[in-house]
Amino acid sequence: MANPGYDSLVARFYDAFLEGRSDDAAWFVDYFKDKEGPLLELAAGTGRILVPLLRGGVDAEGLDNSAEMLAVAAAKLRAAGLSCALHEMDMTDCRLDRKYAQVLVACGSFMLLDDEGARRCLIGARDLLREGGQLVLDLFIPWDDIRRGRTEGFLVARDVGMGEERCLVHESFEHVVADQVKRGVYKYERYVGGALAETRVSNLDLRWYHEAEILALLRDCGWRDARVRTDWPGYARNESFMVTAAR
Ligand SMILES: C[S@@+](CC[C@H](N)C(=O)[O-])C[C@H]1O[C@@H](n2cnc3c(N)ncnc32)[C@H](O)[C@@H]1O
Repeated sequence: MANPGYDSLVARFYDAFLEGRSDDAAWFVDYFKDKEGPLLELAAGTGRILVPLLRGGVDAEGLDNSAEMLAVAAAKLRAAGLSCALHEMDMTDCRLDRKYAQVLVACGSFMLLDDEGARRCLIGARDLLREGGQLVLDLFIPWDDIRRGRTEGFLVARDVGMGEERCLVHESFEHVVADQVKRGVYKYERYVGGALAETRVSNLDLRWYHEAEILALLRDCGWRDARVRTDWPGYARNESFMVTAAR
């Protein structure tokens, strides 16, 4: 399934882009390890969180609409001697036979959805859960970028090496404050042995939510007990927040 923001080039380097970020995965393992399963991670990507969850004994599955991201997750599962179902599906329209006790959308992935997609996802996620099941979302507000407003041309947002290869990510963005959307354009350059081997450009919009706003949206989409968890690692640093809601 096509997902131009998360194609083969991004999938190849994605874990390297997020290297150093593991406090969210560790927190989720700790949070879910004694909770009822199974868990479904929507937008599970390369399994950056899914693999530690499975290693931690959580009965978990992943769903994503990028075949390339899921292929990386499948390879990591094989290498770790783990297995679980990986569903190639859109989180705004997912139908699965199994009923879950937990649905997780991590790493701000919910913010990749436009307003209509967000509603479809929240309404659809209720059908994935058993009665009393729980939805867990983490979100962030890109405060630094909002203050900046827009970039003058492209900035280097990432520069990562993997053996002989290197990937440079150039980012340009502007904010549509009235819509709470950061509109980004990303140019990925892959170098092999110092020579440019591949270039990709993709657009990625991020819709940010304030705490009261996402809680109201959850309630409007039929969720109960929507609340913000203040013990989430990024909360005290004002980096991100986590919300839970019950079916
Ligand atoms: C920021 S990555 C997060 C991956 C993983 N959860 C993590 O924490 O590393 C966002 C993921 O959302 C997926 N994605 C974006 N839109 C989607 C959609 N409509 N349905 C399913 N997956 C989607 C992308 O393919 C990508 O794998």
